[in-house]
Amino acid sequence: MMKILVLDDQIGMRKSLSILLRKEGFYTEEAENGEQAIAYLEKDSYDLVITDMKMSPGTGLDVLYYVKERHPQTDVIIMTGYGTVDSAVLAMKIGAFDYISKPFKNEEILHRVRKSMNHLETVRDLSSLYKSAASEDSKIPLLGNSADIKGIVSMIQKISRTDIPVLITGETGTGKSLIAKTIHILSSRADKPFISINCASIPDNLLESELFGHEKGAFTGALLERKGLFEAAEGGSILLDEIGSMPFSMQAKLLDVLQERAIRRIGSNKSKAINVRVIATTNTDLVNAINSGLFRSDLYYRIKVSHIHVPPLRDHAEDIPFLARHFLESVGKELSKTDLQFSPDALDFLLHYNFPGNVRELANAISGAAAVSSGNCVSAQDLALALTSTLFEVPSESGNGAQPNSLEEWEKELIVESIKKNDANLTKVCSELKIGRTTLWRKMKKYNIR
Ligand SMILES: Nc1ncnc2c1ncn2[C@@H]1O[C@H](COP(=O)(O)OP(=O)(O)O)[C@@H](O)[C@H]1O
Ligand SMILES: [Mg+2]
Repeated sequence: MMKILVLDDQIGMRKSLSILLRKEGFYTEEAENGEQAIAYLEKDSYDLVITDMKMSPGTGLDVLYYVKERHPQTDVIIMTGYGTVDSAVLAMKIGAFDYISKPFKNEEILHRVRKSMNHLETVRDLSSLYKSAASEDSKIPLLGNSADIKGIVSMIQKISRTDIPVLITGETGTGKSLIAKTIHILSSRADKPFISINCASIPDNLLESELFGHEKGAFTGALLERKGLFEAAEGGSILLDEIGSMPFSMQAKLLDVLQERAIRRIGSNKSKAINVRVIATTNTDLVNAINSGLFRSDLYYRIKVSHIHVPPLRDHAEDIPFLARHFLESVGKELSKTDLQFSPDALDFLLHYNFPGNVRELANAISGAAAVSSGNCVSAQDLALALTSTLFEVPSESGNGAQPNSLEEWEKELIVESIKKNDANLTKVCSELKIGRTTLWRKMKKYNIR
């Protein structure tokens, strides 16, 4: 029987919903605020939590954060009052299963509860399917509870049992290198070398020698013979990072190596058998590169025997709170700042930011913010400053100091006015100026507005 926790500060609402659900054969328990619900959730597990938003102490969002972090398998349905569309959107981003606006008809809520029941059944089927692999989970450093990350983890487990080439695609900072390393560590090659080379950072004329080595005197400057990285990786795995940047002529040679399982050093006429697993990553669209004649399609199909695509962080934003807490905890250990915590606006800020630099940017922002935070609380402002100082290209001020930049002055004035008018309520400022919170923080920093 499905076990449901019903959460509302209005007793009438709570009771009637609970009675409705029991009539339909569900088991229910009730709580009147977030704090009480969290206490229940600590002792017991539920299949579904149906919660109101505005309660005290402990709001619906507090409960949602807690559930998604501690009981990711539990669904949460949010009930929102009149005029709180924004918080419903936020809740869905954090990972709410669904939301419903009050007042609602019985059938509307029952429909959502049944949908959640089906969802849970599917999740359970899948998880028993993967149960055999579950014990390996602890070795996988790729964190996240979203369906995207779980899917990737299960692919890593399958792929690491094989020897086939792997192509990992995704934006920079999404965890491609981490995934490559994990595949190696879980594979039977784990005790052999893992060697990685960034194809974009090596001059074209050196790449061949770097990968395959050369004989003494093979070219001007080749004073001694040299082993290439493929030979150095013997028995293990080689990571060809940013393979999209590999020169066209090298691509043919790499294809040969993959087909023949042998390399030839520059200046040698003998080929040498090698046993190396190839993992490649790219943050560029290889299909595009093929169409514009920059990448060989035969090599593409050769390395893409198995393929993992890692989505950008903004597309699995429900993992942000969990990852953020994980990074905060580890930076806390480094800085010996015990009990570091996020202020409530900090998580809100992180969920509204779009992270062009993905998980790497999130981790960096948190280290930066933790270093400058006062006491044990990391605020939205600390995070915004950390992002601004390390990653944002704040447009440079106009070169001519004597001439004020009228457009910027005007913008600054507009922001200051709006802050005054709205009693420093930044949410109101954002909606009045029709800009996102991140943009607002950035501009406040740029214009030194406190
Ligand atoms: N899902 C994740 N869980 C934990 N750490 C992650 C995750 N994704 C990325 N990271 C961390 O973020 C940083 C960037 O990841 P990396 O693998 O170098 O990205 P890419 O190779 O795609 O540019 C690394 O420190 C990595 O450990
Ligand atoms: Mg990388």
